[in-house]
Amino acid sequence: METLTIDNLRVEYRSRAVGEPVKTAVKGLNLRVAQGEVFGFLGPNGAGKTSTMNVLLGFVPPTSGTARLFGVDVREPIARQRIGYLPEQTYYYKFLTAEELLRFYAEIFQIPKAERSQRIDAVLKLVELDHARTRQIKTYSKGMQQRAGLAQSLINNPDLLILDEPTSGLDPIGRMKVREIIQRLKSEGKTVFFSSHELGEVETVCDRIAILHQGELKTEGRVSDLLREHGTNLEQIFLKIIGHPPPP
Ligand SMILES: Nc1ncnc2c1ncn2[C@@H]1O[C@H](COP(=O)(O)OP(=O)(O)O)[C@@H](O)[C@H]1O
Ligand SMILES: [Mg+2]
Repeated sequence: METLTIDNLRVEYRSRAVGEPVKTAVKGLNLRVAQGEVFGFLGPNGAGKTSTMNVLLGFVPPTSGTARLFGVDVREPIARQRIGYLPEQTYYYKFLTAEELLRFYAEIFQIPKAERSQRIDAVLKLVELDHARTRQIKTYSKGMQQRAGLAQSLINNPDLLILDEPTSGLDPIGRMKVREIIQRLKSEGKTVFFSSHELGEVETVCDRIAILHQGELKTEGRVSDLLREHGTNLEQIFLKIIGHPPPP
């Protein structure tokens, strides 16, 4: 069974104002992600990546088409039971320590009391924040704050991670650490579906990618196949596909 299935998905935003045109963010998207895959969801700003993720999370209803997680339609809340999500922008109470933040989320997810501390220890180790667990998040570097967000998304031990631009705004070390976390999750058998503009990174960490442009799927495939077919790196493939060939 596929972990993530999107069939003919269309997402339109209707403005409440009379006469405003309908904005179509996703146009007939078909996508499949299998268990254990690291899948890179690429596309320029405004391509429809976040809109697609918002459908998977049940925040935005599909205008038409369907999306399923573990075979369950995303309109059913139970579909989200086994997923973790890191939004593009996180809004945490920065006066909390990482440990307090995770305790808060562990309660929200109703993780049994006896398991909470163990779970918190495990995710703090995984994201390398063990040493800073009793420091307020506001004292963290941007990379550490992002890793605190990742820890939060992992607290319920999800099978599928949906990460919206997890490396955006991070320095090379911060990006490397996030990349290592994604690789660690993969080695644990988790499925990771993430959007990114860091194509070099995507090339190293992803099994498969999809490139979305103006709401339409432009290409999809195994990274190794795409690199071989096009005979160049992912960045050049991306530029070619979205219609920006490099200068001669
Ligand atoms: N709530 C919204 N209302 C109206 N238009 C939106 C809304 N959210 C996104 N859009 C539009 O939908 C398109 C896709 O946006 P988005 O899914 O955020 O793209 P991406 O994440 O790839 O940058 C953009 O043109 C954006 O302006
Ligand atoms: Mg986005």
